[in-house]
Amino acid sequence: MKFFIDTADVDEIRSLAPSGFLDGVTTNPSLVSQTGRDFREVLEEICGLVTGPVSAEVTASDAAGMLAEGESLATVAPNVVIKVPLTWDGLAACRRLADQDIGVNVTLCFSAAQALLAAKAGASFVSPFVGRLDDIGQSGMELIADIRTIYDNYPQLSTEILVASIRHPMHVVEAARLGAEVCTIPPAVLRRLAGHPLTDKGLEAFLADWGKTGQSILGE
Ligand code: E4P
Repeated sequence: MKFFIDTADVDEIRSLAPSGFLDGVTTNPSLVSQTGRDFREVLEEICGLVTGPVSAEVTASDAAGMLAEGESLATVAPNVVIKVPLTWDGLAACRRLADQDIGVNVTLCFSAAQALLAAKAGASFVSPFVGRLDDIGQSGMELIADIRTIYDNYPQLSTEILVASIRHPMHVVEAARLGAEVCTIPPAVLRRLAGHPLTDKGLEAFLADWGKTGQSILGE
């Protein structure tokens, strides 16, 4: 499974990049707004920090506008992927961008039918928002399972399932269990993936016992 980081905060990306876990980045207009910075400038910096796909979202609502914005954003760096919303106009823009070999992430997906359309429109990624579905009492993971089944029924569909709106580590575990290709994870959740109280307790005991030996592995 690939891990993307769900943030537009360049400092966060810079601090997490050395972990080797960042296979890509997703941004959206809300995340960009939180930075208070110029979008293209931020995008350029992020693309310099990671080699994988970096999603940049259009803000026009008509297909022609999305296409123009997508074509423009795609010039920022070769690893930019254009994010379009799952609307009829977004799907039309997706088709036109994909036909130019520009990668597209179709976002704001909340149903299996929408995911099927995104794949047929040539999307590189579809982003089902599991947390926002859970928030309203619908199962985000049932949607991931449905999309997985549908895409597996048609091997010619090459769209990857990019699980978005992740709230906690179990979303990542469930998405991996279901075979989603990608999770886009907020920085705080990514850090929590490594934590376990028994790891901390065990390490503390090992180091305490090691201290009693008076030894140093490097022989100093
Ligand atoms: C990712 O592409 C989405 O923009 C993001 O995961 C949305 O998450 P949220 O529901 O926490 O805003």
